[in-house]
Amino acid sequence: MPFTLRDYSPSDFEALYEIDQACYPRGIAYSRRMLRWYLSQRGSLCIVAQATGAAEQALVGFLIAHARGPEGYIVTIDVLEVHRRSGIGTALLQEAERRLAKAGVRHVGLQTATNNEAGVAFWRRHGYRSSGVTRGYYLGRIDAYDMFKELHQPRRPATA
Ligand SMILES: CC(C)(COP(=O)(O)OP(=O)(O)OC[C@H]1O[C@@H](n2cnc3c(N)ncnc32)[C@H](O)[C@@H]1OP(=O)(O)O)[C@@H](O)C(=O)NCCC(=O)NCCS
Repeated sequence: MPFTLRDYSPSDFEALYEIDQACYPRGIAYSRRMLRWYLSQRGSLCIVAQATGAAEQALVGFLIAHARGPEGYIVTIDVLEVHRRSGIGTALLQEAERRLAKAGVRHVGLQTATNNEAGVAFWRRHGYRSSGVTRGYYLGRIDAYDMFKELHQPRRPATA
């Protein structure tokens, strides 16, 4: 399915909420209030993936990240199940990493549930490594890997 990436706009909010509800189990998926809070944080960036087919131009995935000086954090990445394994998650992540690096981020962190096989495989595939486990991170009973990656700063043109 062809898709394009673009910046989040407030009119996407309900679609993001529905995608997040579909992507995570009850209790882990964000409430509207939490989702709004993450989107409104200083240094927040949100990229959405939108189908570009003639018939359907629905949102199929999104990523929220934060940049605070040299520290970046990936809040969530969600791709609708029917559209997985076709590179949408990778495209969202690469664009987010590019923007984070441009904003001066050197170190990106995230948490992912230790029982989320697809998530863990995805992060490892993209060079994220585990620095430990936070016990009971989700709902007080599901453990999470604390994962991180060092970003390379964008190259500056060489000066003579
Ligand atoms: C994790 C997630 C975002 C991946 O999105 P995606 O669009 O399917 O990812 P891609 O197609 O770009 O996959 C890139 C690579 O990641 C790895 N990967 C992704 N899903 C995988 C799975 N189910 N099993 C094993 N490896 C997987 C593979 O190496 C894959 O490359 P390949 O398809 O060439 O083998 C998606 O599964 C998702 O939204 N899951 C629910 C929400 C979630 O768990 N988010 C992550 C936790 S914060």
